[in-house]
Amino acid sequence: MAAKAWGGRFAQATDPRVETFTESISFDARLAKFDIQGSQAHARMLAHVGLISDDERDQIIAALDDIGREIADGKLPLRTELEDIHMHVESALIERLGDVGRKLHTGRSRNDQVSTDLRLYVRDAIAQIDGLLTDLQTAFVLRCERDADVIIPGYTHLQRAQPVLAAHYWLAYCEKFQRDRDRLADCLGRVNVSPLGAAALAGTSLPIDRQMTADLLGFSAVAGNSLDVSSDRDFLVEFTFCLSLIAAHLSTWAEEWIIWFSTEFGFLKLPDAYTTGSSIMPQKRNPDVLELIRGKSARPIAAVQQLLVLIKGLPMAYNRDLQEDKLAAFDAHDTIAACLELAAAIVDGAELQREAIAARLEEGFLDATTLMEYLIKQGVPMRTGHETVGKLVSLCESKQCRLSDLPLEELQAACDKIGDDVYAILGTKNAVAALGSFGSGGAEPVAERMREWRERLGLGDHK
Ligand code: ARG
Repeated sequence: MAAKAWGGRFAQATDPRVETFTESISFDARLAKFDIQGSQAHARMLAHVGLISDDERDQIIAALDDIGREIADGKLPLRTELEDIHMHVESALIERLGDVGRKLHTGRSRNDQVSTDLRLYVRDAIAQIDGLLTDLQTAFVLRCERDADVIIPGYTHLQRAQPVLAAHYWLAYCEKFQRDRDRLADCLGRVNVSPLGAAALAGTSLPIDRQMTADLLGFSAVAGNSLDVSSDRDFLVEFTFCLSLIAAHLSTWAEEWIIWFSTEFGFLKLPDAYTTGSSIMPQKRNPDVLELIRGKSARPIAAVQQLLVLIKGLPMAYNRDLQEDKLAAFDAHDTIAACLELAAAIVDGAELQREAIAARLEEGFLDATTLMEYLIKQGVPMRTGHETVGKLVSLCESKQCRLSDLPLEELQAACDKIGDDVYAILGTKNAVAALGSFGSGGAEPVAERMREWRERLGLGDHK
């Protein structure tokens, strides 16, 4: 049985059930790389302030490199009785270096150590998620060119509302995912603060140099209060919240495309590689990946609640409860990374069913609002125009025709301000062409935004 690093005051061995109950190595082993980084920075600092010799520092750093490699290669056995990743690394170090290894934990505690590891982990994860979000935005922007001439109905209440260019939809998702990227970048400011040297809760009487370890680890600031930072998991709640909004955006997109993929809509063709079959119905092709992206969004959203419930009411400073933070955060992170990766592939591989979309584009009076705006331009008060067009739509419904099918006399009977130039704005194509306001779904504004997105994503000019 391994001697406990904290075993000094204990007369009894730990109940094995307690070891199993309290261990975190089964999930925090993935922090190994960051634990090693933090420990190496800490060793450099200890030598700099004279708490260990330069030779001891070099031995520690070299041994930590070896240990890191062994863990990465799965060669260092993980043992429940060693609790967590921090104890695994330290005990491997002591096994190799004896008393020199026993010096590493000087002026440090697992409480500031685990916070350091987690912050380094989240910093890494933010960079990874930002990259995946960029890939997804890129997939949407590249779709814009492929679908340049496609008009699709825009919906409110899932009822046909007004027509927009398909590219307007794609760029709408770029905006959402950009806010997600901005939020992560903002979150990073509060993640990237060094807890190292806060020790257990009070700091230390030893002459440590916290600025030095912060600089070595690329932290942009040193936490100003040891009590606060050793109990703080705000950064993890924030990170998980950022992930949960990404999940919400992904689930909206997934839901939309699931609907578009249905026979009833028939807007979309999904690549075979990203659909699956039914075990009983031979004809089925199911959008399982999209459904799971929608379904898995539950995890990061739940993780935010899990973390808030975890930290709520905890007295300062560190409490063992906090060990559970990693389960929520890791799962949220892994889930979003996996979803984003497949989302980009699906956005790239799907095809709009242009004929099916075009065939029904004149259904649903997508040009009704444009007609109302035409009346406004002729000096008709908006509410009056709204009522007039409402009546014309009702007339069309009874005659089973479109607004553009109505003869001029019938249009003029509803409002004498209507001239024969009205036919230039009726019909779905004309209605889209009429959209010119900033940020709208018409050709000019969409082309401008597309240019901006290409530039922002470093895609160069479209040929
Ligand atoms: N495994 C612990 C965690 O994840 C590390 C910190 C343990 N600290 C302590 N005082 N027991 O939170």
